[in-house]
Amino acid sequence: MIHIAIDGPAGAGKSTIARALAAQIGFIYVDTGALYRTVGLFMLRAGVDPADAEAVVPRLNGVQIALTFSEGEQHVLLSGEDVSEAIRTPEVSMAASAVSAIPAVRAFLLSLQKELAAANNVIMDGRDIGTVILPDAQLKIFLTASPQARAQRRFAQLQEKGEAVSYDEVLRDIQKRDEQDMTRAAAPLKPAPDARLVDTSDCTLEESIARVRELVRDVLGY
Ligand code: DC
Repeated sequence: MIHIAIDGPAGAGKSTIARALAAQIGFIYVDTGALYRTVGLFMLRAGVDPADAEAVVPRLNGVQIALTFSEGEQHVLLSGEDVSEAIRTPEVSMAASAVSAIPAVRAFLLSLQKELAAANNVIMDGRDIGTVILPDAQLKIFLTASPQARAQRRFAQLQEKGEAVSYDEVLRDIQKRDEQDMTRAAAPLKPAPDARLVDTSDCTLEESIARVRELVRDVLGY
């Protein structure tokens, strides 16, 4: 199987770029952040503080997650309910970041990710794909952009969806999530030693997709 790992901070464009690329080369796109978001959503709904490991861990056995793919789109199911939309709120983003720092949560989601990769040619995006989940991926990309550029993009997305947030709030959330994701002890966000760095701060989305597409062609011949 061929595996492409795309890691990087929140809002760097990983999912949009990976989705476009997967459609171009006929791979399955797996958004692993959706798994952490679903665990976060479950804990919020259960009234559990997502940052409280002692409260979160015993509840994990009640979390039933499945990923399905239809027409190239990933859907995430929580106990059979399609929560693909419900996990996209700023509140769930913060909850996802909090639960993702808990080693037992990462262990809980590990086999699902590995099984998907074992059975498919995948482009998988997340924080630890090149370092932990797919250390043997044939191509690893670390996609990044300045916090301001990322906040601006996320703000535009949220505005489009009619979410009432300010740019400053979005920037603050991004900085807080960066800090949490990079400084946690369990699988912190960092480039794999053999990852190719792509900085998209000054790129349009089309330019970013084209740069990654070129890497795929150069390295994998696809
Ligand atoms: O990519 P995203 O914004 O949907 O991810 C949500 C959170 O989940 C993010 O703050 C960090 C965490 N995450 C992770 O720790 N490891 C991954 N492979 C994917 C996401």
